Formats: sequence, C-alpha cells, structure tokens
Amino acid sequence: MNILVTGGMGYIGSHTCIQLIHAGMTPIIFDNLDNSKASVLPRIEKVCGQQPQFIQGDIRNKQRLIEVLKQHDIDAVIHFAGLKAVGESVQKPLEYYDNNVNGTLVLVDAMRECGVKSLVFSSSATVYGDPASVPITESFPTSATNPYGRSKLMVEECLTDFQAANPEWSITLLRYFNPVGSHPSGELGEDPQGIPNNLMPFVSQVAVGRREFLSVFGSDYPTKDGTGVRDYIHVMDLADGHIAALQKVGSQSGLHVYNLGTGNGSSVLEMVAAFEQASGQPVPYQLVERRPGDIAECWADPSKAEKELGWVATKTLEDMTQDTWRWQSGNPNGYPE
Ligand code: NAD
Ligand code: UFG
Repeated sequence: MNILVTGGMGYIGSHTCIQLIHAGMTPIIFDNLDNSKASVLPRIEKVCGQQPQFIQGDIRNKQRLIEVLKQHDIDAVIHFAGLKAVGESVQKPLEYYDNNVNGTLVLVDAMRECGVKSLVFSSSATVYGDPASVPITESFPTSATNPYGRSKLMVEECLTDFQAANPEWSITLLRYFNPVGSHPSGELGEDPQGIPNNLMPFVSQVAVGRREFLSVFGSDYPTKDGTGVRDYIHVMDLADGHIAALQKVGSQSGLHVYNLGTGNGSSVLEMVAAFEQASGQPVPYQLVERRPGDIAECWADPSKAEKELGWVATKTLEDMTQDTWRWQSGNPNGYPE
C-alpha cells in the first residue's frame, strides 16, 4: 500500500513512517518543513534501512497534491500536517484556521478528485475540553477553549459531514492523548523550535542543561499531588495505532473515532521523578501559578481501540522517559540543519 503521509517529517509522522515501513507499506511524505528538518530522513533510513520518498510541499496547494496522489498511486492518506502550539494559536488564529482547517479541506478535495477515499486524521484529546469526569470515552461531549483546539474540532465536524455525504469513504479520527518519548534507537525524537510548550521536551532540556529549571504550572489542582494529570503515551505506541487503524478500518467505509491513550494518568511531579530516575540527572523545578486554559486531569478510556483495532499501548513510563533521554542526551540540540 502507498500511503501519503502529510506532515511526515514531524515528530509523530516520522515515527509513524518507520512503523509503516516495518509493516510493509510505502510511506510518501508530503511536508513543507515549517516545523521539521530534512535531516530526519537519513535517521529514518538508519533505523529501518529505507528512506521514504519526500516531497516538499504545502497541503494548501491543491494542484501539487493532485500530482503527488496520482504519480504515487496513493491508496490512503495519514494527515499529520498542521500547526499545534496552543499559545501561538491564540495570537495567530487566522494562521491556525488556514493551515489546519483550510489545509484539510484542500487535501480532501484533492483526494476526491483523484478517487482516494481513505483518510486517517490526527485529532487530539483537546476536543474533549474540560471533561466532566475521567476516564474519557469517545462519546463524551466535545468543545474547544482555544483556536488550536477549535481547529481540530472544526476539522472533525467537517470530516463527519463529508463522510455522511460520501458514505463510501473511510475516515478515521484518532484522538491522541499526550504523545511523549522517542524511537528507542535514540536517532529520532521530538525537536521543538524555541522554548518548548510541552512538559516532556521542557523537562528533558532541563536535564541536559539547556534550561535552568522547570516551572510546574499549578500545584493546587484537585489531583493526587496537586499538579496536573495527563495520559502520556509513547510515540511508538501512537505510531502503531495508525498502522492498526489503516489495517482494520482503513478500507472499511464509515466514520471511525478512537482515543489513543494508555488509560493511566500521571502527574507533573510523577513525570519529573520518572525522568530523574531514567536520566540520572536532577530536574530542578519551581511551583508557579496555573497556566491559563489548563485542565486538572485528563486520561483516556482506550478500550474501543483495543476492542475494534486490536491495539493497546504497551510501553511504560520508564520506556517513555529512558527513550526521551537517549534522544535528548545524544542530540542535545535536536536534528542537525
Ligand atoms: P510536528 O509539528 O512535529 O509535525 C507537523 C508537521 O507538519 C511538521 O513537519 C510541519 O513542517 C508540517 N506542516 C505544518 N503545516 C504544513 C502545511 N501547511 N503543509 C505541509 N506540511 C505542514 O507535530 P506533531 O507533534 O508530529 O503532530 C502531528 C499532528 O498531531 C498535528 O496535526 C498535531 O496537531 C496532532 N497532535 C499532536 C499532539 C502532540 O502533543 N504532539 C497531540 C495531539 C494531536
Ligand atoms: N506543564 C508544566 N510545565 C511546563 C509545561 C507543562 O507544569 O513547562 C504541565 C501542564 O500544566 C500540564 C502538563 O504539564 O499539567 C502537560 O502539559 P503539556 O503542555 O505537555 O500538554 P497539555 O495536556 O497541556 O496539551 C497537550 C498538547 C495539546 C493537546 C493536548 C491533548 O500540547 O496540543 O495535549 O492532546 F491538545
């Protein structure tokens, strides 16, 4: 199977390409390198003996997409491309709606013109807003509290309407919880530009000496130790979730919605302790005010994916922190230019 992977040069996309190759599929990457570097390609080759084809392009360019879909005889699309920084989305809503919403509509339009009818979309647990309870099932109500989250929700709604009007299509919405970790080889990992927004990249940059201390956002939440609780999932497990989705429902018409999480919640302080243990490095931190827009706790009920896709997350917190450390300590400044 030839799989077009939009955003395949990025964090989750690059790890998914490796698992696609291992599963005997052929990934073709389409990415504008807005938030990634071409030097990820030889790293992919190093760990799986094959370099995926890479086409530099923007998902808002319909003609280019049509050329690529036809030329590579694409069977299905995994759509990772988009912007993902919550804070930035508040400052630049137009850019977020243009990339994430308009970009997806252009992509689907191009697929329709080429007769490619299978799509897997990167959604997020952010679509559950502030959930009334945990664990969260796919039937929980959805809402958004910032432009990034709203863009994901809008895309979900657009794709739902589109699938209803085109019942022969297979559209899968994968709602990721908190992706962390790296390929176990230490060759690939998360390489945020500038100051990391997310917890794990920040913690690992403190451990490697790039930053002085972690600010823990809020210590008065009604959680086990007062800090925020999330469902951290290893990026390799997440990557495998995409393979399972393609294999199980990628050629079954319908709208398929799955949580990809572990079903376990860990607090910020638990993550810091696990990281110190894995790295052998101290992670100094300061307790500060809550970050606006954050929720107290969020974790998945992943049983639907287990039942229907036969997929379950298998990696532990130790795997997540050890693999992150292997990547961070071996590549303190991320990918080379
Ligand atoms: P990432 O930024 O590492 O990867 C996204 C890739 O898309 C980058 O390589 C970027 O260059 C590319 N891109 C952006 N806009 C593009 C455009 N208009 N045309 C072509 N390429 C474009 O992000 P990631 O962490 O790998 O996330 C992948 C997807 O998963 C995103 O859609 C994100 O919203 C979603 N997601 C991520 C998380 C997370 O915490 N990492 C959580 C939930 C959902
Ligand atoms: N945190 C800190 N200090 C930091 C960064 C984060 O204490 O420097 C805390 C947060 O307050 C939160 C936890 O660590 O309690 C996790 O924060 P992240 O920013 O890593 O992740 P979020 O759960 O806030 O959001 C992430 C992605 C979103 C996505 C969401 C659900 O950033 O894009 O998961 O999938 F929508």
